[in-house]
Amino acid sequence: MTASPLISFLALAFTGSTLLATLTQCGNGNAQSSGVQLVTQDPAPADLLPPADRIKILVSGEMQGRLEPCGCASGQSGGLARRMQHIGEQRNYDLLLEGGDLIDGATPLDSLKLMAASEVLFLMGKYDALGVGPKDLLLSREDWNLFLTGAPVVASNLTCTDPAWPAKPFLEKDVRGIKVRVASFLLNLPESVRGKDSTIQMVPTATAWTNALAGADAATRRIVMLHGSDTEIRALIPQLQPAPDLVVGVDPGYIEPSPVPTKVGGVPLVFTGTRGRVLLDVWLHRDANGPQAVCELVPLAGSKTVVGGGGDPQVKDRILAHRHEVKAEDLLTKMARQLPTANGAAYVGTNTCRTCHPTAYEAWAKTKHAHAWQTLVDGENDPKRYGWPVTAYPDCVSCHVVGYREQTGFLSFEDTPQLANVACERCHGAGSDHMAAPAKNKLGLIGGVAPSLLCTQCHDYEQSPTFLYGEKWPQIEHSCEPNQKTKK
Ligand code: HEC
Ligand code: HEC
Ligand code: HEC
Ligand code: HEC
Repeated sequence: MTASPLISFLALAFTGSTLLATLTQCGNGNAQSSGVQLVTQDPAPADLLPPADRIKILVSGEMQGRLEPCGCASGQSGGLARRMQHIGEQRNYDLLLEGGDLIDGATPLDSLKLMAASEVLFLMGKYDALGVGPKDLLLSREDWNLFLTGAPVVASNLTCTDPAWPAKPFLEKDVRGIKVRVASFLLNLPESVRGKDSTIQMVPTATAWTNALAGADAATRRIVMLHGSDTEIRALIPQLQPAPDLVVGVDPGYIEPSPVPTKVGGVPLVFTGTRGRVLLDVWLHRDANGPQAVCELVPLAGSKTVVGGGGDPQVKDRILAHRHEVKAEDLLTKMARQLPTANGAAYVGTNTCRTCHPTAYEAWAKTKHAHAWQTLVDGENDPKRYGWPVTAYPDCVSCHVVGYREQTGFLSFEDTPQLANVACERCHGAGSDHMAAPAKNKLGLIGGVAPSLLCTQCHDYEQSPTFLYGEKWPQIEHSCEPNQKTKK
């Protein structure tokens, strides 16, 4: 909390009410706020007092590799720098919980992202627990174990034969004399780590819950993070006996989590949201009716690694260092051309399409898609916009070119200029077979999807929050040459 709202809140409280409250509602105050106590007439109505056993919890999860917003649209939320700034300002959390899925896959970029994120959250920050989500298990065990060594990782229903596996069956923290247990369950193992021979195995739910509560007494608060779909999570909760005080659902389907906890069999259930765009403040206590939770959504006005981009400056420096690591390691080239093309053909480049489709080409060349690469170059050269090597960062390049990561696809602007930009084959698929026999090998759209679903692969809720196909298609519309009309 900064000085000015604090002062106005004080003034308001003193003039306007007989509130009895402390600003540091959880009591473990710090230099900024511990001196401020609003004590007015006694006795105050008991129901205005925060319950003595109330604990304040910060919940996040499913960052999916978004260290900071991409900046493709204005007003984006999220970013580690803004998150850590918020935590630094509040500092009265009793417990910081990160659900997991900090990254999104198993590429070398995911490794470097995990390294940066874990440094921020567990070395610079003070998260108390990190759950294990399905995406976390995709990365090589060596990298994952290494980057999370010493981090408070919890996985109650997983065992791993690797001695470097950092996860514990539970974590416990003492919050002003109240013991809080944190557990985490993964409801489905990803395909790649399933099977008898996998180093990772699942423990049956009942056994895992018993292990997670080993030695805990009835007064111990029981918090569990459940990784699965909403339906699976709700079905599992009644199986956990004694019942948890709080379930944190980590379901990537919750783009915008509700600030109102639902109750499943009396157990409060909250969700984390995705891509690190929001945090959830949860106040938890027990009364005669069982556990009670109140929540507030904390939207994070995004931060960027540019001067004035908002957020904790140290974290921004760390993320900027990550950007340069990615370039120094030349991950753009290392990650290129690893996957097959969707239709099995090879990319031929925009100028080849142009030879037979001049009208479609002219229409396309007038659209913004035709300079999507230049947009990255300009952003890179503009210190107020990005100022870091975005043209070497796979996440940025992937949506602004043709066929990145696929065989014969974009490699670098120098090597494959005909595959820069959001060009023909990004939407219609690799064209070698088609140009050899146009009538026989028709192209359509990649994956045979509906046009609007093709668009939202890139124009999603973050890049283009107001995207409507009916409005946007006319801006890029193009079709066959009159003499090439497909017989439909
Ligand atoms: C998921 C696909 C996707 C990714 C990943 C992506 N972009 Fe974009 N980008 C888009 C789309 C779609 C637009 C057009 C948004 C609109 O105007 O509706 C865009 C637009 C932009 C613009 C132009 C915005 C403007 O104000 O004109 C810039 C600059 C940009 N992106 C840079 C980046 C950078 C840098 C990264 C990596 C950090 C990145 N993009 C990652 C899809 C993506
Ligand atoms: C952003 C995606 C996108 C890009 C880039 C793109 N197209 Fe298309 N194209 C479409 C969509 C969507 C349609 C309409 C498909 C439909 O209605 O079934 C279409 C239609 C067409 C058609 C007519 C198909 C028909 O059956 O009438 C041709 C030919 C075509 N595109 C060629 C091209 C060429 C050549 C380029 C590059 C110069 C290009 N397209 C770039 C998305 C794209
Ligand atoms: C050698 C000439 C030639 C080249 C090169 C060529 N096309 Fe075509 N294309 C045609 C003809 C002819 C048709 C009409 C085919 C028919 O329906 O009989 C066509 C049709 C299409 C259609 C409509 C759907 C279909 O497949 O019938 C799309 C989309 C398309 N082309 C995209 C592309 C793209 C993208 C490229 C570049 C990779 C490309 N074409 C390169 C000749 C060509
Ligand atoms: C591969 C990712 C990708 C796909 C797929 C894609 N776009 Fe785009 N689109 C972009 C990027 C990147 C930009 C920004 C280019 C720039 O400003 O340099 C953009 C910009 C646009 C713009 C101009 C900015 C705006 O929002 O008004 C329109 C219109 C547009 N796209 C329409 C579409 C439509 C319609 C589809 C589906 C048929 C589609 N796009 C599919 C990446 C994509």
